[in-house]
Amino acid sequence: MIKLDSQEYARRRQELMARMSDNSIAIIPSAPLTTRNRDVEHPFRQDSDFYYLSGFSEEHAVLVLIPGREHGEYVLFCQEKIKEQEIWTGRRVGPEAAPETLGADDAFPITDIDDILPGLLEGKDRIYASLGVRQDFDHQLMQWVNHIKTQVRNGATPPREFGALDHLLHEMRLIKSDAEIAVMRQAADISADAHVRAMEMVKPGMMEYQLEAEIMRTFMAAGSRWPAYPSIVGAGDNACILHYTQNTEEIKDGDLILIDAGCELDYYAADITRTFPANGKFSDPQKELYQLVLDAQMAAIEQVKPGNHWNQPHEAAVKVLVDGLLELGLLEGDADDIIKEEKYRQFYMHKTGHWLGMDVHDVGEYRIDGEWRELEPGMVLTIEPGLYVSPDDDTVEEQWRGIGIRIEDDVVVTKDGCTVLTANVPKTIDAIENLMG
Ligand code: GLY
Ligand code: MN
Ligand code: MN
Repeated sequence: MIKLDSQEYARRRQELMARMSDNSIAIIPSAPLTTRNRDVEHPFRQDSDFYYLSGFSEEHAVLVLIPGREHGEYVLFCQEKIKEQEIWTGRRVGPEAAPETLGADDAFPITDIDDILPGLLEGKDRIYASLGVRQDFDHQLMQWVNHIKTQVRNGATPPREFGALDHLLHEMRLIKSDAEIAVMRQAADISADAHVRAMEMVKPGMMEYQLEAEIMRTFMAAGSRWPAYPSIVGAGDNACILHYTQNTEEIKDGDLILIDAGCELDYYAADITRTFPANGKFSDPQKELYQLVLDAQMAAIEQVKPGNHWNQPHEAAVKVLVDGLLELGLLEGDADDIIKEEKYRQFYMHKTGHWLGMDVHDVGEYRIDGEWRELEPGMVLTIEPGLYVSPDDDTVEEQWRGIGIRIEDDVVVTKDGCTVLTANVPKTIDAIENLMG
């Protein structure tokens, strides 16, 4: 299993500090613990920004970067090693070992943060933080700053300005290093295997969650701890519900099954969708719409190259879909008008993709100064057009109703085009029918 090494995290901290303004400080809290029900918590998953800079997966921690600080630029607050607590909640690194284990220059118990952090903020011109995301953190930050304000008559200087950390950090996260792409490639390979397994084992009569079980098993057997997002396994009409995650219904002969599932590996996501017939053979109407979505997807992937802007793949997909829907009689009118008035949204109501990385809908701007941004090598995105004909859409012939199709691949922008990371799952009609036959 390829994992990122500690140098990658150190390099990121250096890079972020180089982008920060003079005499500034950045503060990044770990993710909160959240309750599932009563005494049960959701599995803890570290905040992506926090992990990106630290490789540290514990809760109750705060990472502080202070470029130019004489006693160390990387300060970490974390849980102390306390035997009685570790017996209940697990092993901790602790502040004593944090310099050696995590590369921190200085580390303190999280319980001391209110005493120490105001002193680190004092005299700085600007604080970089993500504000407006977590009320408890915003509140705590204001308390630290207000504490300094109470000391102005003793000569303390409170920071005057807040800077958007997101902008600096997320532009870094948007461009993936070779090491990150290597991890994403593994996540993609494992996820591709899971989709292939689902196609191989499905039979009418199974429950949707039984296919989900095979996907989860494949992820975990290959070294992924959990999926990057809740898997969607929608058979028949359920494929037309974009965020269907109940996965509780029986798969019927004649259904198409839409599976949108990807694993998380060392904090990187894969995100794959395939749509295939439960009985191994596409019906004629299923074939028509499927081929149309596939043509749209290929046309979109062709637009993924440096210099093209973010929306070009989407525009290419929409053009193919609209022309095809006109030809099949699901839409009527003039293609340009339909595109301008977005009338295709009756069947295609989402965009053709999103950035992909540590978060499945990853960070990074899509527009710069109001214009779609240009694609650059190292960006990773999904290409995922679809068609969804509502089961009760009486504006179309009955044969089309209840067909939902999406085809989604993960694509890296390269120097002269792109590489599809998820090409291991078949997507042509012949390849799918051959695999399932
Ligand atoms: N799996 C979420 C998405 O495709 O955007
Ligand atoms: Mn997806
Ligand atoms: Mn996606």
